Amino acid sequence: MFSLITSNLCLLRWNIFSCTVCCYSLLSLLDKTNCICNRSQPSKTRRRRKMADEQKQKLVAGLESSPKYIPVSYKYDEIGSRLQKESCEHNHDYYITASELSILQHNVQDIIPDVPNDLTLVDLGSGDCSKTRFVIKELLKRQKTLMYYPLDISGEFLIKAAKSLKDDFGDLLEVHPIASDFIQGMEQLKRIKGVKLVLWIGGIFALPYEDQISKLKLFSTIMTDQCRLVFTAEITQNREDILKAYNDNTGLKRRSNLNGITRLKREEGSMIDLDKFSYHLDFVHNTNPEFMSYVLSYIEANDDVQFPIPGLGKDLEMKKEEHLYLHEGTGLSCKYTLEQLQTIVQKSGLRLAGTLIDKEKHVAFCSCVTG
Ligand SMILES: C[S@@+](CC[C@H](N)C(=O)[O-])C[C@H]1O[C@@H](n2cnc3c(N)ncnc32)[C@H](O)[C@@H]1O
Repeated sequence: MFSLITSNLCLLRWNIFSCTVCCYSLLSLLDKTNCICNRSQPSKTRRRRKMADEQKQKLVAGLESSPKYIPVSYKYDEIGSRLQKESCEHNHDYYITASELSILQHNVQDIIPDVPNDLTLVDLGSGDCSKTRFVIKELLKRQKTLMYYPLDISGEFLIKAAKSLKDDFGDLLEVHPIASDFIQGMEQLKRIKGVKLVLWIGGIFALPYEDQISKLKLFSTIMTDQCRLVFTAEITQNREDILKAYNDNTGLKRRSNLNGITRLKREEGSMIDLDKFSYHLDFVHNTNPEFMSYVLSYIEANDDVQFPIPGLGKDLEMKKEEHLYLHEGTGLSCKYTLEQLQTIVQKSGLRLAGTLIDKEKHVAFCSCVTG
């Protein structure tokens, strides 16, 4: 159930939690990085190889399916993560980042659960961790030290972000970056004791519906009854605003969406020529409480085409007008009504304790508890 409390920012919000100002503590970032990601060189190498093999299997499965697709997570290498960040920062029609930041700047205390214990902060799909800085600062007002576990599939990007945090917060923060995908990362996060505040900011946008549910279910496995999972979801329903945001003048969103294809060229030696395709985006509105609205993005072959992808040991073969989707599933960048949000959280076995919505009504911070 959603609690409605009106503030001077006109926010829909859950119960507000107070905080006390404290001081801070430390740990060596790189030691801790090794502790989590690098117990021994052979296991690190094995894990990387396993991830690379799994990624190739997923790519082949996507290119062999009907319709064809490239898994959306594949676009997030270092270049893709940078493009994603730049497209959020420089595309002024992309309202989501501004809405998320507005809540984090003005109401961050409202996403922190009111528990007597110190919290451990877990950040899933942390990117450059810039939004999480607001949460870190707030938590450091109420507890002496903070253990912070950012997890991201983009290892290089993550380590840079973790180092920058270490430079800025020094001894005040223990940073334990986990360069991993969600599934493998959960095994490491399960070992962490204590009450966790688990953030998943800007992550659900990039996943197909069924995958969102399975990720929420997966994340719930690291939670005990006092823990909170806070994720952001988009609630915009205006078609014009949405298409403007995704077809931006800067072209950054398009480059970010197409990074999976250009990465195939960089890493798998593919010769895919994007000039032989047209790029498309569409918004599909759906008010069914069991589902959501979403954006489709795909490239369409202008003619029959065949491009070898040596690294995958197969060719991309497409008929004229055939689509290659830039994501798996029905669609991505999902937009929800509040009812749809309650449904998805319920389907994942969690309970929606509250939502915090910006005054433009673009984004909801959704606070979930177990059971
Ligand atoms: C849209 S960005 C959000 C970044 C950051 N949380 C923010 O809001 O600025 C999504 C992030 O999730 C990461 N990601 C995507 N799929 C992932 C997966 N399967 N496992 C781990 N990280 C993933 C990407 O690398 C990317 O940094």
